[in-house]
Amino acid sequence: MKPIKVGLLGIGTVGSGTFNVLKRNQLEITRRAGRSIEIAMVADLNVERARELTNGECEVVNDANLVVTNPDIDIVIELIGGYGIAKDLVMKAIANGKHVVTANKALLATHGNEIFKAAEQKGVMVAFEAAVAGGIPIIKALREGLTANRIQWIAGIINGTTNFILSEMRDKGLDFATVLKQAQELGYAEADPTFDIEGVDAAHKATIMASIAYGIPMQFDKAHVEGITKLQASDIRYAEELGYRIKLLGISKRTEAGIELRVHPTLIPEKRLIANVEGAMNAVLVHGDAVGATLYYGKGAGSEPTASAVIADLVDITRLATADPEHRVPYLAFQSNSLSDLPVLPMAEIVTSYYLRMHVADKPGVLADVTRILADLTISIDAMLQKEPAEGETQTDIIILTHQTKEKNIVAAIEKIEKLDSVFGAVTKLRLEELS
Ligand code: HSE
Repeated sequence: MKPIKVGLLGIGTVGSGTFNVLKRNQLEITRRAGRSIEIAMVADLNVERARELTNGECEVVNDANLVVTNPDIDIVIELIGGYGIAKDLVMKAIANGKHVVTANKALLATHGNEIFKAAEQKGVMVAFEAAVAGGIPIIKALREGLTANRIQWIAGIINGTTNFILSEMRDKGLDFATVLKQAQELGYAEADPTFDIEGVDAAHKATIMASIAYGIPMQFDKAHVEGITKLQASDIRYAEELGYRIKLLGISKRTEAGIELRVHPTLIPEKRLIANVEGAMNAVLVHGDAVGATLYYGKGAGSEPTASAVIADLVDITRLATADPEHRVPYLAFQSNSLSDLPVLPMAEIVTSYYLRMHVADKPGVLADVTRILADLTISIDAMLQKEPAEGETQTDIIILTHQTKEKNIVAAIEKIEKLDSVFGAVTKLRLEELS
């Protein structure tokens, strides 16, 4: 059978990894795919570098339009990133009848519905294993491996940069700004790390996973996005004293009322495996009604780990290219005419446990006032930690862990607690998940 021809848009870190792994494991991959997969054309603005990387083994152009309109190309790999040019090229590739492989989570989380609709009309595949958690085959697991299950919740460490920063903050007792600077110097964090540290990257990935887990359209605009920039070293320390680690989690949950979709720093019991995922590694915990909890762990970024996911998609497409579209795995795991309109819940309606830290006067009655406010709002206390005031000080920190309650109750309680004369400054609120 003649080779399937691939056009690569962008030969940076992941693109060059894809080229190299495809070449190195060519025989093995052909034995699996049933025909050989050949990168026939590469588009990159840096044509010279692209030629060097590909050793003259394929055509190199600087205009990606030449790839997406080339009748000889069967599959286009989009590794440009962002929502601008990348979207135009993906839509053009689809319009020209090409299958698409993309690692672009931002594009799919924000424009996925439009892209999948166009692809369905053209009868082409859009595959995106590399868009979530790099080399971990989490899309495959959710769309296919767990297909018997009603997925109940997903909690993932899906941003390596922030997990690296949190690990360093805990290990070395350093504050966020210091660790971020070190991470940038070491090349672990981007020069502009905004999307990572503000939780946007994780929210893109959580949005994609929620969509294929619950069969709902992509709804990034409804996700709650909170990063780690405001996290204090003291909260990491107090959490540890109470037996918890703080991780930036991408969480989605199915409830009677709708879907919770949120990214925020989260306390999790230190005895959970996922609490011990350190450095830039990723891990995703998925709970299905039949299988129970399953955990997927690995490298969430990097040249060859991400290439591993890109090539898995190339093999899938190669195997299914001649199958009728209705026999392929649906884009969002559920048939497109069977997507659910279950709403994504506003944050006020989500249910979880909380960590509250407040700075108070160390005198009789303060704790009673705080606990009365919580009791009046039917918020039950799970654990408490009161620090000795420092030598000569009359103020101290109180940390309270609550049982589960609605976010709107905790917000109302905090508003009242902050008005107490004996409470100084703002109350710090973090969410806590038992993940049991
Ligand atoms: N910037 C991402 C991370 C990797 O830090 O995990 C690409 O998704």
